[in-house]
Amino acid sequence: MSWSDWIRTIEVEPSIYAADFSRLGEEVETLLHAGCRVFHWDVGDAHFIPPVTMGPIVLQWVAPIAHRAGAVVDCHLMVDSPEGHIPQFAEAGADSVTVHFETAPDLPRVVGLAREHGLQVGMAFNPDTEVEPAATAAREAGVDVVLCMTVHPGYSGQAFIEGSFERVRTLRSLLPESVHVQVDGGVGAANIGELHEAGATLFVAGASVFGADDPPAAYTRIVQAAT
Ligand code: DX5
Ligand code: ZN
Repeated sequence: MSWSDWIRTIEVEPSIYAADFSRLGEEVETLLHAGCRVFHWDVGDAHFIPPVTMGPIVLQWVAPIAHRAGAVVDCHLMVDSPEGHIPQFAEAGADSVTVHFETAPDLPRVVGLAREHGLQVGMAFNPDTEVEPAATAAREAGVDVVLCMTVHPGYSGQAFIEGSFERVRTLRSLLPESVHVQVDGGVGAANIGELHEAGATLFVAGASVFGADDPPAAYTRIVQAAT
């Protein structure tokens, strides 16, 4: 069964990028105990976004911890030429990859490659990219998830872009029901309810989870605030 069939109606995905890297395994374990089933793994290549973040060499240590507890790892590839990275991420234990509309001109080819490696596939698009062409490309390529960026990709801890609610609503109206709408950037208890109402069901949460004094309690609060 694919993870997009298996996930619950709403999933909050803690973004490991915002975790304490000196205690990575422990950070993941505590969230698993709180009921987390999907972790978000941000990949930057210093080209498409300024920083180098976390690659497959680190993922191969973290993915088994999630898998042992029945959770999955959703990899957000903020990189140029994402197809070159997909085999390594699959090998390291990724369950899904999301590539950017802006860096994947031949999206059907990328989707085919990801599926050959047994991965779910998402397509992300940036806050300054128009929703309609992105939604059309995603629909035509048959992705499982469309990620509407709610900050400019690059760093955790940025402020949510308020105009995003309308973009999520438009995106939802342009996609088949089977395709999940995901949001990423500045998401937390204060805006998750409105994002859910707008049509999102997968919510990436970095600073709002790992920046809290008690990340598992913050995770639970954010999940509860969604409905
Ligand atoms: C930003 C990344 C996000 C980031 C989210 O470019 O794609 O996944 O970790 O972090 P917060 O929730 O802190 O905005
Ligand atoms: Zn991300």
